[in-house]
Amino acid sequence: MGHFADSQRSISNERVEYPLKMMHAYPKAVVGWGAHTMVGQEAKNLGINNAFIVTTGLKGTGIVEEIQGVLKAADVNSSVYDNVTGNPKDHEVMEGYKQLSADGFDGFISLGGGSSTDCCKAIKLVHGHDGQDVRTFEGAFMATKPNKIPHIAINTTSGTASEVSCFSIINHTDDMYKMALFDPNCTPTLAFNDPALHQCMTGDIAAYTGMDALTHAVEAIASRLLVQSAYGPGLWAIGEIFSHLRQSAANRNNDKAIEQMVWAQMSAGYSFNSAGLGIVHSMAHVLGGRYDAPHGLCNAIGLVDVCRYNLPACPERFKTMAKAAGLDTEGMSDYKAGEKFADAVEELRSELGIRKNFKDLGMQEKDLDVCAKGVLNDICTEGNPQDVSMEDAKKMFSRCMGEEVDFGNR
Ligand SMILES: [Fe+2]
Repeated sequence: MGHFADSQRSISNERVEYPLKMMHAYPKAVVGWGAHTMVGQEAKNLGINNAFIVTTGLKGTGIVEEIQGVLKAADVNSSVYDNVTGNPKDHEVMEGYKQLSADGFDGFISLGGGSSTDCCKAIKLVHGHDGQDVRTFEGAFMATKPNKIPHIAINTTSGTASEVSCFSIINHTDDMYKMALFDPNCTPTLAFNDPALHQCMTGDIAAYTGMDALTHAVEAIASRLLVQSAYGPGLWAIGEIFSHLRQSAANRNNDKAIEQMVWAQMSAGYSFNSAGLGIVHSMAHVLGGRYDAPHGLCNAIGLVDVCRYNLPACPERFKTMAKAAGLDTEGMSDYKAGEKFADAVEELRSELGIRKNFKDLGMQEKDLDVCAKGVLNDICTEGNPQDVSMEDAKKMFSRCMGEEVDFGNR
């Protein structure tokens, strides 16, 4: 252990609390215009004859019917569980499990954004353990039996990157918080990213999910886990998001912008899948669990202030992110360049028309204590480069509710 820690310190003067890294596998992925037409054949290749589709329903898009048609053409039957909601709930997981047990199936297909795929991952765990309560899988590596059923994840938002990650985030509806289920058995077998499906996002969803992807890249690069292979895909994602998110949110018929956001969100997913995240996500999990607030919107609100808060912990990495975003940092100190990056994120958020704060999402002053405790308990807080006290967590929430808060030197 000592040797690894010392060798890490020789390339960075930052503290190293996780000297041994764990790299998590990505699934095979099919990416590109028209990719979804291959779903039937790929399902067949995986031995799927009766697919169980888990989805929010994607009402009004015709996507569920389109995928069922593509499956049918390849002689694959399908049944649909479409009761998944945004911020998928524990009872939806158990309800989906009950339905699949009645329907009979030999493969999972999740269809939609992070909510659909996260719910499907959790149903997969429950099914693999004969109906065990989904709450028992909260935490890391809680599965005791390997998943043997293939899972195709068809992603429609740019995005959560759930189609390439080993995380599932599920609302604990009694205690009103989000559980993280972190397990390689969650990872899909095969991922699909077809820009033609991503074109069906509304402008708001494109903006919110795009800011989620940006948050993935920023938090993975700033993470105290120091997984250096995350920096390449994360920095590339930041550049593409700064270049294309405005256009993709404004006009989903901008093919180039939509396609680049598809790649960027997936690349950001490759980054955080091993490097972890930080307290922007911890706060978003608290707000999603307590107030059912949209994940990407919470991240869009929290990211700017958390960048400023974390800047003293790793200014050189924030300067690298500023450069990746295309900012001129010539002659600037790491710290100044990092401040410029946070300003640019704020400008991007504003240009996307995101003006809300946490109060608008339902948060109240009286909840500050319980929300701050939720942040300290969230698995993502481990990756935050700055130590977070109860007091700081409360201040951060207050700041994100639109109040003037002094963090001392931050
Ligand atoms: Fe996220």
